[in-house]
Amino acid sequence: MPDFKPVRGMRDLLIEETKQLNLIISNARKVAKYYNYGEVTTPIVESHELVSAKSSDEIRNRMFTFQDLGDRTVALRPEFTASIVRLVTTVLKKAPRPMRLFSVGSVYRYDEPQRGRYREFWQSNYELMGSNRPEADAEMILLTSYLLKSLGLKNYFFKVGHIGIVKGILDQEQVDEKTQKEVLHLMDKKEYAEAFSQLKKDNVKSVLQSLVEVKGDDIFKITEEMRLQVKDYSKAKDAAINLIEILKLVTSSGCSIDSIQPTFSRGLEYYTGLIFEVQVPELEISLGGGGRYDRLIELFGGISTPAVGVAHGLDRINLALQIQGFESGDKKIKKIFVIPISEDLRIKALNIAEELRNSGLFVELEVMGRKVGKALEYANKLKMDYAIIAGKSELKEGSVVLRNLIKHEQTTVKLENLLKKIQE
Ligand code: HAM
Repeated sequence: MPDFKPVRGMRDLLIEETKQLNLIISNARKVAKYYNYGEVTTPIVESHELVSAKSSDEIRNRMFTFQDLGDRTVALRPEFTASIVRLVTTVLKKAPRPMRLFSVGSVYRYDEPQRGRYREFWQSNYELMGSNRPEADAEMILLTSYLLKSLGLKNYFFKVGHIGIVKGILDQEQVDEKTQKEVLHLMDKKEYAEAFSQLKKDNVKSVLQSLVEVKGDDIFKITEEMRLQVKDYSKAKDAAINLIEILKLVTSSGCSIDSIQPTFSRGLEYYTGLIFEVQVPELEISLGGGGRYDRLIELFGGISTPAVGVAHGLDRINLALQIQGFESGDKKIKKIFVIPISEDLRIKALNIAEELRNSGLFVELEVMGRKVGKALEYANKLKMDYAIIAGKSELKEGSVVLRNLIKHEQTTVKLENLLKKIQE
């Protein structure tokens, strides 16, 4: 037999990793509940045309694309946004606006595998459609902060920009779409000289250069300076004012924004307004990112609808939590192993296990018919807290032996006192 391994870039998540991922997913669902996002489930396989339109060359060139048996060109979804926009332009066309939709699941990109970069990874995704107001943009940053805070992640910080500032300048200067895409891409990579060399007019280069040079710690001073620099470009100026409003809303809610990136574009073609990412100092990759995309729905054939959204990289959040020494709350719940001493005590042992489970403990029953010694060896290997040994003579007295597997002590305990004793 060949030595079967997961395909390169794919991972098996074993018990602890799956538990940790599920914990993050359940927090993401809680965020959806508190912010009133309805959860929808869309297919992993989508039409290639849908997921490749308006994403980015980077994503388009890294999709898992194939022909299905019906000769359709399909792809594994590289993100959720296109699928959600498909819903909004079709079956949810008439649903009331604003519409808040949440999804969670695996997405696929043929990225070069490395720490925090996988070919199959998990996202929690939130889209708010129908509002062009800054409150909607602020909500994306706030719910991201809520999720990370609820997981106990420390020192996370937001990088914020507004694609409308650079786009506003390039639009007013009638720079064609293809050049705009190239300039944004190069500026995002901080290859400014190369970016400016794509432009013909010196005044455009100089206003973009002045944006690049805006620096400082005070986010409001920076954005105000940006606003002044682009004052001759009406759309760019409106974008700067919009960014200031969003920042005011976010910071007034107690969430701090750490840096403003005037030339940040996040590599997705559909953004039109706010863009942001969240990071931790321990990792150089983003844990989540999002932004406003006011034209995507109409480009997909829907009624023109402003929209904003965010996706969180759950594997990266998990990695960041591990690096910060996160301990799951589950660890505090006692794990118990119930061992019947003989075959005829199986029913009694099962009843004890069920009762303790109903009281909120994690209980495993010995199901291999092993002798106590062997069963205890197993319980120790699995780092359980207690073993309950159900023996005939003790049960006759209404008791069992309770063995503390950490302290290596044991006592005989009445069944009615068992829970109290374990929880002491
Ligand atoms: P994105 O920035 O492409 O945005 O991905 C969001 C997050 O997914 C990233 O911040 C990162 O945490 C995670 N991620 C991306 N690539 C990988 C990878 N190869 N391995 C592990 N994690 C990864 C979007 O997907 C947009 N759809 C977000 C959005 C929603 N914008 C508006 N609405």
